[in-house]
Amino acid sequence: MTFVFFGGKGGVGKTTVSSAYGLKCARAGLRTLVVSTDPAHSTSDVFDQQFGDEPSPVDGHENLWAMEIDPDEEVDRHMQEIKRAMGDQVSPAIVNQIDRQIELAHRTPGAYESALFDRFVDVMRNAEEFDRVVFDTSPTGGTLRLLGLPGFLENWIDRLLDKRAKSIELFEKAAIGEREARRRAEDDPIIERLQERKETFEFAGDVLRNEAAFYLVLNPDELSIRETRRAIAELTEHDLGVAGLVVNKVTPKPDDDETGRGAQYLRDRCRTERERIEEIETAFEEPVVATIEERVEEVKGSLLEDVAAELDVTVESAVATGEPSQ
Ligand SMILES: Nc1ncnc2c1ncn2[C@@H]1O[C@H](COP(=O)(O)OP(=O)(O)OP(=O)(O)O)[C@@H](O)[C@H]1O
Ligand SMILES: [Mg+2]
Repeated sequence: MTFVFFGGKGGVGKTTVSSAYGLKCARAGLRTLVVSTDPAHSTSDVFDQQFGDEPSPVDGHENLWAMEIDPDEEVDRHMQEIKRAMGDQVSPAIVNQIDRQIELAHRTPGAYESALFDRFVDVMRNAEEFDRVVFDTSPTGGTLRLLGLPGFLENWIDRLLDKRAKSIELFEKAAIGEREARRRAEDDPIIERLQERKETFEFAGDVLRNEAAFYLVLNPDELSIRETRRAIAELTEHDLGVAGLVVNKVTPKPDDDETGRGAQYLRDRCRTERERIEEIETAFEEPVVATIEERVEEVKGSLLEDVAAELDVTVESAVATGEPSQ
């Protein structure tokens, strides 16, 4: 089982490349699931088919499934759950007030990221039936940054657990005696909940470090290069290596005998892009695994097959152990 993530700045072609890669894996006989977190749901556009919150087969393609995660829905669900749990514990008089507070808390960006992370872990946990799961990450919510979180959060939860255990010991020992206090600590719902969260983060951290590969999609322009540098720095900071770079939307060269204004424009453009690509090849340690030309139309249907053919990302050994996969 391998999880492959495609990240990158908005609009560079993450959804296109993820879908093409998914198609390529499926063609190679791997049971492949493409997971999109794009709020615009463009996976549906690429395959001309509506996808929901659960994997469903992609029409016309064997071994290929797709699903679209909607974190907003997840945030809502989470909010309802908390409201219900709180409602059981407080008097009806203050339920409304508390509801308002909870709603406010769920409108923060952190709630969205946290919901997205939980859904990722969910998918990872329930992916046994697939050989490969391809994540098309959205630029919003800093999805890639999110993936660096488990290690960090594990430590944080450890500290919370420690604090909680100490406070139970201190306060309850005084009130109810030592033996009773120990029993309370064992049954403490907060400790239980924290422990659960910790296990989730441990699981995610393990999977991400040992069974996942990260690819960054970029275009041959400065902004995109800068964003890539940032993403690599963030991922490596969390011990997550980037397996390769996909340069997308490269302008096709006009034929040498074409001399019109359009051809001249393309030629100039190609020259600039050539420089950018050289910069990408020399400045980054990560290998450029594919250079994909810009098409006249949106990439879908048979165009997707062409792009898949250009993708030189290995199907067999995508798992990165910090090493680039060749
Ligand atoms: N090589 C290409 N040639 C022509 N059009 C392309 C190419 N790659 C992507 N596109 C088009 O560019 C648009 C953006 O691509 P895509 O949706 O894959 O980017 P994205 O990185 O997923 O965007 P977002 O950040 O909004 O999720 C789409 O209309 C897609 O069809
Ligand atoms: Mg997208």
